[in-house]
Amino acid sequence: MPTTSITNIGTLVTNAPELGEGPLGLVENAALVIEDGKIAWAGPTARTPPTDTTHDARGGAVIPGFVDSHSHLVFAGDRTAEFNARMSGRGYSAGGIRTTVAATRAATDAELERNLVRHLSEALRQGTTTFETKSGYGLTTHDEERALRIAAAHTDEVTYLGAHIVSPDYAEDPAAYVELVTGEMLDACAPHARWIDVFCEKGAFDGDQARAVLTAGRARGLHPRVHANQLSYGPGVQLAVELDAASADHCTHLTDADVDALANSDTVATLLPGAEFSTRAQWPDARRLLDAGATVALSTDCNPGSSFTSSVPFCIALAVRDMGMTPDEALWSATAGGAKALRRTDVGHLGVGARADLAILDAPSHVHFAYRPGVPLVREVRRAGKPQGA
Ligand code: NIG
Ligand code: FE
Repeated sequence: MPTTSITNIGTLVTNAPELGEGPLGLVENAALVIEDGKIAWAGPTARTPPTDTTHDARGGAVIPGFVDSHSHLVFAGDRTAEFNARMSGRGYSAGGIRTTVAATRAATDAELERNLVRHLSEALRQGTTTFETKSGYGLTTHDEERALRIAAAHTDEVTYLGAHIVSPDYAEDPAAYVELVTGEMLDACAPHARWIDVFCEKGAFDGDQARAVLTAGRARGLHPRVHANQLSYGPGVQLAVELDAASADHCTHLTDADVDALANSDTVATLLPGAEFSTRAQWPDARRLLDAGATVALSTDCNPGSSFTSSVPFCIALAVRDMGMTPDEALWSATAGGAKALRRTDVGHLGVGARADLAILDAPSHVHFAYRPGVPLVREVRRAGKPQGA
């Protein structure tokens, strides 16, 4: 197998403490060797072993590619008017989801796929090499199944979210909609998905309904993750922990008991600051979760309603500025944290044997994501060692 080295790296973030300093396993003036799409060696440039080809990072930092563990990218239309109204003082509610459901149902498969690919390439250019995405804007058996089928052609991390809101067609009979989501719709969707999710919130699904959805999914081999405690306090986080969900996502309104439960579990608290930014809501308290010992992931929640950004660097900047995270913690949460939220060990780090999914920056260190917010700092992205796009 031919080998490639990347040399003259400013700060290398490996997230492999055995390779360098601190939890981020930082190496200065570093180099990497890639063989067969995987990391074969990492250390100081001066000690780089001979390789078939060499790429000079010219002092730029290298980080593991971002693992965006929460997005909603199979949709049509946009909600500019709703955002505009919100910025003039109107509040956010789950109700806006219906606008996107109508546009998504009306779109062809080709339109949905084009939109998905557009957002994926946007995310890739900003350093995202692994992403999860969900259904949830179809809410019929046919429309949920096709959303998942389209998503599965582009990622392994596909989540069935038939329980996003009660379908408008079932407004008078939510129990019948839960029956559909846990019955015929689940049967059609399960073959295309790895995960099952539910929006556990006032105006969406209560604790009992959410439990019914998640346990039905689990019985079909899907692993749970939960939209929990976004708009208000509620049972979502406790349910996620009880069912060993891979993550409880949003975690904006948490009691001390919720924080304790997360800290004593394998359920990752996935924070989505793009949503609080775009809905002018209070920030989730990352510091409180970290100090309690919880594992925190940072993701975009990219969707046309509550968080229309595909930029993990933007989320890092928000988390550092407003959620009490250090630049190191935010970088870890957007890479290794995302991988934990997807229960993946092959991505989110650049330890020996990891997939060579990485970004080379136009900046000497990862700290610049928060220090230079809004600046396009990702110079080059590689997946399994291969340079992506131009
Ligand atoms: O994660 N909270 C529920 N779902 C999305 C919002 C979807 C929408 O507004 O279209 C979220 O924020
Ligand atoms: Fe979401």
